[in-house]
Amino acid sequence: MKSSEHVVRQAYQIGPSDREKALGQRGQVLWFTGLSGSGKSTLANEVEQVLHTAGRHTFLLDGDNLRHGLNGDLGFSEADRTENIRRVAEVAKLMADAGLIVLTAFVSPFAADREKARRIVGPDRFVEIYVDCPLEVCESRDVKGLYAKARQGLIPDFTGISSPFEAPVQPELHVRTDLHSLAECRQTILAFLHS
Ligand code: ADX
Repeated sequence: MKSSEHVVRQAYQIGPSDREKALGQRGQVLWFTGLSGSGKSTLANEVEQVLHTAGRHTFLLDGDNLRHGLNGDLGFSEADRTENIRRVAEVAKLMADAGLIVLTAFVSPFAADREKARRIVGPDRFVEIYVDCPLEVCESRDVKGLYAKARQGLIPDFTGISSPFEAPVQPELHVRTDLHSLAECRQTILAFLHS
């Protein structure tokens, strides 16, 4: 039984479209997914900076930061990742309802979890951005030194090493950070948003 079974929804006087009108923009969620070290966070930060400078109202949710707070009780088992992504999707939905352009940077390795996030947020305002970079390249970058630890068996369930990454099949956007510069990838995303 769902614990919300006997909870009746309250109606709000002010809805998402009222808030969007007040902010002069559409609430949206730009969902960055990819391996650790693929460049999700860097790219999301770059895109947010351009949007912010242009006067847009934005918010960035990053896995490495949320796992120190809201999701601090979760690890990297399949069930914990599913719960991680569910919570992020619910938060992103509320923020989009508030009229914000939300950028999320999470590995989000499982296709079913990303599809659930799309449903929670609403498909009409969900933009899945696959930040694609071969494992060998992510591993050679190893910015945080985590791949080396995972190879030594010090980090269990590490995405790409001992836990799968299910690549998006039909993302709205697909950028290759091994083939294109950060500036080029950023432009691809901004051009899509403008169109
Ligand atoms: S997700 O799979 O649940 O979406 P999330 O994006 O929140 O992951 O967190 C991933 C970040 O946690 C990585 O960028 C990396 O820095 C760190 N991390 C620590 N352990 C792992 C692990 N086992 N697998 C992947 N990333 C890990």
